[in-house]
Amino acid sequence: MSLAEPPLLELCGVSRLFARRQDMIGRLAARAGLVAAPQAVRAVDGVDLQVRRGEVLGLVGESGCGKSTLGRMAAGLLSPTRGRVLYRGADFAAMPAGAARRARLTVQMIFQDPYASLNPRLRVAEIVGEAPRVHGLIDGDEQAYVDAQLRRAGLDPGYKRRYPHQFSGGQRQRIGIARALAVRPEFLVCDEAVAALDVSIQAQIINLFMELRDQLGLTYLFISHDLGVVEHLSDRVAIMYLGRIVEAAAVEQVFGRPNHPYTQALLAEVPRLETRRRRFTAIAGELPSPLHPPAGCHFHPRCPHAMPRCRAEAPVLREIAPGHRSACHLNDRA
Ligand SMILES: Nc1ncnc2c1ncn2[C@@H]1O[C@H](COP(=O)(O)OP(=O)(O)OP(=O)(O)O)[C@@H](O)[C@H]1O
Ligand code: SF4
Ligand SMILES: [Mg+2]
Repeated sequence: MSLAEPPLLELCGVSRLFARRQDMIGRLAARAGLVAAPQAVRAVDGVDLQVRRGEVLGLVGESGCGKSTLGRMAAGLLSPTRGRVLYRGADFAAMPAGAARRARLTVQMIFQDPYASLNPRLRVAEIVGEAPRVHGLIDGDEQAYVDAQLRRAGLDPGYKRRYPHQFSGGQRQRIGIARALAVRPEFLVCDEAVAALDVSIQAQIINLFMELRDQLGLTYLFISHDLGVVEHLSDRVAIMYLGRIVEAAAVEQVFGRPNHPYTQALLAEVPRLETRRRRFTAIAGELPSPLHPPAGCHFHPRCPHAMPRCRAEAPVLREIAPGHRSACHLNDRA
């Protein structure tokens, strides 16, 4: 990437609020005025993040910290409550409708459960061919175009007359990938894209992602619970905690010299050789509710280094070494 080139994707002060999800009784009680109106969840809170062309940015954090919400905003599927999402320097929200539609096509999302996003009544050929046909991306023969996408995703085009339920989980993920590739994206947001697969199938899909990166020059935002997977395939890693990015750096810096106490806790909890399926289970203390995040540094109730200042003042995510950002008051002491 040249120095003058803007990042492929840039999130500038991006926040997203949701009204709290309520069950039926809660909704009826609120409507009848028996309880207060639903509170807001700040799923993503003032995130500044850049993704450079051609890189794999891993995004990790405990369940509910806002990874999927951030991913959906990055893919232009959800608009921020505050802040801007810039794609090649242009704001999705400010683009004319046609340009926004084209820009959104270049960012595709791959989900954990491809089955849920594949229409069970359509054959694979229709699933893969529909969007590029609608958007006028196919110059020649549609079937040849579909066959090429299937082959690129490692599927035999001979099976394209079949329905999604006739495939295994790994093959269905490949159908989802072929469908995404068919609209010629340059950026894939993968949200737990291998989490539901067996380990051996996971490895195959990860290899496919990396081959596609080389062949097509793709850029990835790779969201995962699995620290081993993230360490394996990311160039840079961002660590998220209760809606905020707390640390972001090159993968070697995050895994080799983690700065933020939360990152240190994540990495300390399982011996390093066991990287393959490291998950977050053993950090001391409960993950607070995103409805009532602790004041100051959200991590202070679980942090072994918490000081009075941490309870009152939110630390700013700032550069502590070239390319290494962390949000912790301990960095002010040096
Ligand atoms: N559509 C919605 N309506 C209300 N609340 C929502 C909505 N989507 C997400 N949230 C809330 O926002 C917070 C962040 O959710 P999100 O799904 O982004 O987290 P996540 O990090 O992807 O979690 P997981 O690892 O479990 O997938 C959670 O508290 C969640 O309940
Ligand atoms: S700011 Fe304070 S509470 Fe937060 S991680 Fe740093 S030392 Fe811990
Ligand atoms: Mg999620």
